[in-house]
Amino acid sequence: MIKFCYLAIFLILVHHLVAVQSINAAAPKKGVSRNPADFLSLGYYLKKCPEAESIIQQKVGAWIQKDFTLAASIIRLHFHDCAVRGCDASILLNYRGSERAAYVSSSLRGFQMIDDIKETLEKKCPRTVSCADILTAAARDATVFAGGPFWEVPFGRKDGRISIAKEAEMVPQGNENVTALIQLFKAKGLDILDLVTLSGAHTIGRSTCGPFLNRLYNYNGTRKPDPSLNTYYLKLLKKRCRHSTDLVYLDVITPRTFDTVFYTNLKRKAGLLTTDQDLYSDPRTAPFVEAMASQPFLFENQFLVSMTKLGNVQVLTRNEGEVRVNCNYINAR
Ligand SMILES: *[C@@H]1O[C@H](CO)[C@@H](O)[C@H](O)[C@H]1NC(C)=O
Ligand SMILES: *[C@@H]1O[C@H](CO)[C@@H](O)[C@H](O)[C@H]1NC(C)=O
Repeated sequence: MIKFCYLAIFLILVHHLVAVQSINAAAPKKGVSRNPADFLSLGYYLKKCPEAESIIQQKVGAWIQKDFTLAASIIRLHFHDCAVRGCDASILLNYRGSERAAYVSSSLRGFQMIDDIKETLEKKCPRTVSCADILTAAARDATVFAGGPFWEVPFGRKDGRISIAKEAEMVPQGNENVTALIQLFKAKGLDILDLVTLSGAHTIGRSTCGPFLNRLYNYNGTRKPDPSLNTYYLKLLKKRCRHSTDLVYLDVITPRTFDTVFYTNLKRKAGLLTTDQDLYSDPRTAPFVEAMASQPFLFENQFLVSMTKLGNVQVLTRNEGEVRVNCNYINAR
């Protein structure tokens, strides 16, 4: 509770700061092309729907209280949204052939929470708060409820009208090499530090066993386990993974705490996904893993920076998209 009082004070301060900033930003120099995210603003719903943020926060809290695992799910859903066509709620569209209908999206969760928030907001402020903004704010609130840092989310994202199943495969599936991961992130304007930092969200996530079963029994066609897997951890995983659909925590030590143990696990060869473990063996990413493992404060601060960057990826603003009435479908025209 005290934490939220501080947040409220912080919010007020930030809103003042931003009011000053947006006056300056309102007069762009001629000929200077603007980043789409420049059209987002912290005060976007201040007049349009002043309760938007508190409604989202309250709903996210209620859902996570009922089911803690939803915190990680909603952060993941936001990532899957932003990784394809930017943060435009394309992942929420629910029909044959949409990203959400793709096989690789079948383990995504949290849609009901977003629908619940949207329904409430439509009653309060019809056709005002976009699904992309709801999902972005919900990912932030989920982080806070899980014990992670708070950050201000600028608003004004519009919802896209395109969602293509095939494109869902652009999201890392857990078997990419570090070069591929770095390239994927780079294409979204995210750097190596963002990659290592956002992977840290796995401090509270889970995975089905399917994506890493090969590491337990037949690594790279050797018919042996992955040698880069801690032997105690290997034993445990063999016990927990009876079926490829069984769920295990990505952070085996403190799965319900938003902390840096995920990174120390990598140093102990106890990363669940190869995409995580490889971050510690690759010289481009390893220094960042080392830094995060030893400095929780650094992780918290960088997490909010990287999440802010993620939430601004290829956003649609102004008339580039719409405010969906129902997050599952584009508006009838
Ligand atoms: C990494 O993956 C990319 C794309 O899948 C592939 O082209 C490349 O050869 C791989 N690099 C290494 C070092 O395995
Ligand atoms: C996987 O196996 C191939 C072929 O046997 C080998 O060239 C490659 O180095 C192995 N990769 C790893 C990461 O062990």
